[in-house]
Amino acid sequence: MSEVLFEVTDDNLESGLRGVPVGYCTTSRVDPDKGLHYRGKSVREFAHLRPEEVIYCIMEGSFDGDSPGFKGFSEGLQKQAKLHPKVKEYICKLPKESHPMKLLQHALTFMATFESTGNYAADCMGVIAKIPEVVAILINYHAGWGETKESNPKLGYIENFCHMLNVPNLKNKEVFIEVMRLFNVLHYDHGGGNLSTFVGKAVASSHEDMYSSLSASMCALEGPLHGKANQVCLAFIKEIYQEVGDLVTGDQMEDLIRKRLQAGKLLYGFGHAVLRKEDTRATLLAEAGEKYFKDHPLVRIALLLRERAPKVLMENPKIKDPYANVDLMSGAILAACGFPYPEYFTVLFGLARVIGIARQIVYERCEARGGKGTPIIRPKYLYKAA
Ligand code: MLT
Repeated sequence: MSEVLFEVTDDNLESGLRGVPVGYCTTSRVDPDKGLHYRGKSVREFAHLRPEEVIYCIMEGSFDGDSPGFKGFSEGLQKQAKLHPKVKEYICKLPKESHPMKLLQHALTFMATFESTGNYAADCMGVIAKIPEVVAILINYHAGWGETKESNPKLGYIENFCHMLNVPNLKNKEVFIEVMRLFNVLHYDHGGGNLSTFVGKAVASSHEDMYSSLSASMCALEGPLHGKANQVCLAFIKEIYQEVGDLVTGDQMEDLIRKRLQAGKLLYGFGHAVLRKEDTRATLLAEAGEKYFKDHPLVRIALLLRERAPKVLMENPKIKDPYANVDLMSGAILAACGFPYPEYFTVLFGLARVIGIARQIVYERCEARGGKGTPIIRPKYLYKAA
């Protein structure tokens, strides 16, 4: 007999499916107290690894440094990196007035036309191999940074992305690549129920192809309550900086937070639907902030907020998670490493997250229920007269 995991009551309705189990996720898990785990291990254990190694683990289930399949996997990614020229051509015809996330959504639908094999597993590898070039093209195009350099996948997954991206006036290329690597590795996957992942799996449940399903995921990621939170958070940190400047102390920051909350203003970058301790990704980014940029004004503000806000938020018993989430730190670190362009932050999130979503789609379409796959998503809504 199957176990009763959850009882649906009136209170669960219209509550964003919070806590309602709907399936299995094999790639990652978000523990309320211990944070994000990829394939059973804390994300902290992956924070120093190369993207290819972490991606291999998410794809295959484990990585121990010399996993026999890793070499072939990594070479496979390099071989498949070449993007269909039409995808580039059409990206560069899109309106520059659009938010870059719109360009990413369109780019994925062009990929559905020119790259799709109709096989979820093959397209999962295909999108992982090609997405760095897609994102480099769309940012260069949107920002007016000139022609994208020819892809050279042999440089390494994130090194090649940074090589293609024509970021102007980069002072320290090595630190830039290191921050991009860390940001990328920390954003691959976040359990099965985050909105973009859930949406991608829902769309694929109608047997829609991989690339179009990922395009739908990127629409969900664009929302300010999900992936665009990193862009919103940097605007918030800048606003605080304008208000207090460089010389603010911890106690002054605490006062400012309290006054802000009393005035009914929001505090961005704190709390999470599942987490009840500080987001491990925020901790890792804060450590990078302390290591590389502790004197950068925006990083300093983010670090002070991270230190002082939880105490003030805890004064409100209704707040279940008063701790920093990934978005508090990520924008400040990206700005400090030479990428002060918030409108591209969510696209960088998407560059990473398509990996976890694509792998979860492969699970649901090809592996779940003994290989039969999950049925089309069709939840029940109760009729209520308006
Ligand atoms: C994520 O990384 O997807 C966000 O933290 C949101 C979530 O997990 O719901």
